[in-house]
Amino acid sequence: MKYVFLNGKFVPKEEAKISIEDRGFLFGDGIYEVIRAYNGRLFRLDDHIERLFKSAEAIRLPEVYKAEEIKEYVNKLLELSDEKDVEIYIEWTRGVAPREHAFPSKSEPTFVMMLLKPHSQPPETYRKGVKIVSYPEIRWKYPYIKTVNLLPNVLAKQFAKENGAFEAIFVHEDTKIVTEGSSSNVLMVKDGKVYCHETNESILFGITLKVVMEICDKLGIDFVGEKFTYDEMIKADEVFLSGTGAEVMPVVMVDDKVIADGKPGEVTKKILAEFLRMTWREDRLKEYLGES
Ligand SMILES: Cc1ncc(COP(=O)(O)O)c(C=O)c1O
Repeated sequence: MKYVFLNGKFVPKEEAKISIEDRGFLFGDGIYEVIRAYNGRLFRLDDHIERLFKSAEAIRLPEVYKAEEIKEYVNKLLELSDEKDVEIYIEWTRGVAPREHAFPSKSEPTFVMMLLKPHSQPPETYRKGVKIVSYPEIRWKYPYIKTVNLLPNVLAKQFAKENGAFEAIFVHEDTKIVTEGSSSNVLMVKDGKVYCHETNESILFGITLKVVMEICDKLGIDFVGEKFTYDEMIKADEVFLSGTGAEVMPVVMVDDKVIADGKPGEVTKKILAEFLRMTWREDRLKEYLGES
């Protein structure tokens, strides 16, 4: 984790410095991605880079590198690291310019990559499932853009932490529609079908969600991309989260309500098992699922 990538160079982390006039710092005028490497193997790199470019296009960020170049740099950063179970964090901002809201006529984007300790939890957490809490949907209209403007998500996650929960999920105050978690997507299972909010502008289309959709297809489980409400969710047979950090995380409690029998559900466990296989952890199924 010693090296970071900063504007074309691999430098020791302590030497990587960014200007106080960077628009990422001043306005949150930038985007990011988080990619997981399992024992040195990158999971869904192409999907993450594709989404990075989608976010860049949405906020009209000038291009600095081609997708193929970024992939090479990601691989190089991982090669330079002695830790191989990591998250690769990428941030791309509109760069350094005197503080003016409108885009500067001249600025070089800032492009940074660094390695983070993975956010995934010990296997026991997946065996038991977690508690989540609801939080008002106070975000802007375009959560599909992976922008570094994460203040509502920061406040929501802090609320979760202070309430002994793993995650906070955004719920519209008027309609009670559940959108997503502060850093994950929310899914529920009802009568054997898996539901998640439709992948429109109101949620981030998680790469893990995409993987879950593929798993459902493979296992012959119906997947429905349709909004659901808080009341529907707490009466569901199963609830789970998906995300690069959360992976496929069973939820057994929402606020003070226990979901079904309070144990990770069978559909969730099947999806988690397949996810573990896809992420090269077939040998750890028992640890995560508690079964032979
Ligand atoms: C708001 C939000 N939704 C969903 C996700 C899940 O996305 P992914 O599966 O690509 O990690 C994240 C991940 O950080 C997120 O921040």
